Amino acid sequence: MTDETLYSIRMRASTGKHHVSGAERISRAESIDNIVLSLIARAKSKGGIPHNITIHIESLHSLPVKCLTALDILTVTVPDMHAGRVAAARTLTHLGVSQRAVTRAIELLNRGASPTGTTMRGSLIMDSRSGERLEPDQERGVRTSRFDYAEKASSMVDEVLTALGLTHFRTREAIALATKVVHAPGVIAELCWSDDPDYTAGYVASLRLGYIRYPYLKMKGDQKGGRVIFVDASNMISEALIRYLQDEPVLINNMGKFHAEITLDQYLMSLAQRS
Ligand code: COA
Ligand code: AMP
Repeated sequence: MTDETLYSIRMRASTGKHHVSGAERISRAESIDNIVLSLIARAKSKGGIPHNITIHIESLHSLPVKCLTALDILTVTVPDMHAGRVAAARTLTHLGVSQRAVTRAIELLNRGASPTGTTMRGSLIMDSRSGERLEPDQERGVRTSRFDYAEKASSMVDEVLTALGLTHFRTREAIALATKVVHAPGVIAELCWSDDPDYTAGYVASLRLGYIRYPYLKMKGDQKGGRVIFVDASNMISEALIRYLQDEPVLINNMGKFHAEITLDQYLMSLAQRS
């Protein structure tokens, strides 16, 4: 008899108080050993061996697993950070996020959204109309966890992303994370750019438009990054939303559509036509 139990396998690496990297997978028991090895390799890949590597392996035995199709993927070829932020802002307002909330979200990520001006450890949650922050802890935020590609979708996403020239592991993982986020009730969109100083790309994700990637949402060398989840004001942040994002397992078992790159002008025109 085969063991159908799924496990959540999570790695985080740190040196002193500094978080170095983190990654996670969901798998059956027989793959755990290989996954742990690959996660340790990942932990060591960012400038040598960190002081601490924590691996957490947890049975998901009784939890129902939600299966989702990955978001459609589109790259808008913006020439620089300013154009990227204009395009991201237009996407968010098109989705119904107020201009006030968009401006506030971009300003917060730009300066470091924690009260001390550093990058948060998780996502900020924002009322899409008023721009009010709703996450319970503004230093920590809310961390989306317990998601992965199912086996077949994993090779499919690699093929698709290779064909699109998007081979960075961050893109692959961000699409999975964003797919989980935008399927939460009350979530309108997510805005993200990385805190990795070498990774300037970011995205706006939504159920309506998919995963829209902008190659520049910040300047190279900038260590600030973050995520903002915009929620429907009438659907106030609830414990259920936080529980879903943090704890409820999601497997992506299918790929969405993917498109060739389009220019900023073409993109803005297509948004105007959809309005
Ligand atoms: N930044 C800073 N600190 C972090 C961190 C981050 N991104 N992630 C974890 N930590 C530190 C914090 O001190 C945290 O304590 P806190 O809850 O008070 O913030 C502590 O590690 C424990 O974090 P926790 O999430 O409980 O650990 P975990 O072992 O369950 O999971 C991760 C760790 C990193 C795998 C998980 O949080 C995560 O981010 N998963 C998604 C990874 C991914 O695919 N990201 C894609 C980005 S493109
Ligand atoms: P990254 O894409 O890993 O560079 O992360 C960019 C930013 O997103 C980080 O600086 C955190 O503020 C936030 N973040 C990191 N991991 C998570 C997560 N699992 N869930 C929500 N937000 C996260």
